Amino acid sequence: MAALKLDYDKLAGTYQTRYQPKPLHGVAEALRALAGRGPARRILEVGCGTGHWLRGWPESVWAVGLDRSLGMLAQAPAASPRVQGDANRLPFAAARFDLLYVVNALHHFDDPRAFVREAAGAIAPGGILAIVTLEPRQLRHRWYLYDYFPGVWEMDLARFPALADIADWMAQDGLTAVERRVVERITDHRRGRGIFDSPFLAKEACSQFALLSWEAYREGLRGIEAACQAAEDADREIVFPTELALHLVSAAKP
Ligand SMILES: C[S@@+](CC[C@H](N)C(=O)[O-])C[C@H]1O[C@@H](n2cnc3c(N)ncnc32)[C@H](O)[C@@H]1O
Repeated sequence: MAALKLDYDKLAGTYQTRYQPKPLHGVAEALRALAGRGPARRILEVGCGTGHWLRGWPESVWAVGLDRSLGMLAQAPAASPRVQGDANRLPFAAARFDLLYVVNALHHFDDPRAFVREAAGAIAPGGILAIVTLEPRQLRHRWYLYDYFPGVWEMDLARFPALADIADWMAQDGLTAVERRVVERITDHRRGRGIFDSPFLAKEACSQFALLSWEAYREGLRGIEAACQAAEDADREIVFPTELALHLVSAAKP
């Protein structure tokens, strides 16, 4: 399926606020551990957005961020080299990087399969490719928005490559030591109308909502409201779960 295009220039102003309640240290630690194996000196994040994962690298590391959105890049740390470009046309010489990673962006790329091939070519021998992503196939009934916003789960099944496919693509492209593991768990259980206080319920809080029409978004909100009302009428508790896992798929270039 062709990637649904989201205008990240419009989301850029508020994007970084999502990390204030949850900085997701597990992802950063996993990336640091991978960089330490080399150790990596030349690092590229593709789809770096506001550069959350470019922060904190030691000065000895050349950490570059590439993103399609100039608005997102404008929010990234000024100290990091930033490049506007497309993930499927990386503007770098072959074998340039010791670590190339993508966090929560692969599903936005026009051709995720071709991206893995291109990324494998951009890594130097001994280097590592790392992709951090959600696996919606494991999240049915674990993320309330899949239950209340019609069509969102199906949309995510089409957008997000399966973990097994990403691992297979890496192996097909000559990478070895393919590993898969959970690096972050994001858990939030909102009770009753407390769900309406969640900053992640906002229309532009995540791509799942941002891609919805306003009509479909409002329909989902009405479903949540009706479920709260029904629970109150029946004097029972209703819980809206968020039980997300961020998976890391990584592999090395021999
Ligand atoms: C959900 S954000 C993730 C940003 C960052 N990696 C993070 O985790 O905070 C997805 C990013 O991918 C970028 N993106 C989408 N399609 C792209 C493409 N084809 N090439 C480069 N970047 C792209 C978007 O502009 C956006 O900044």
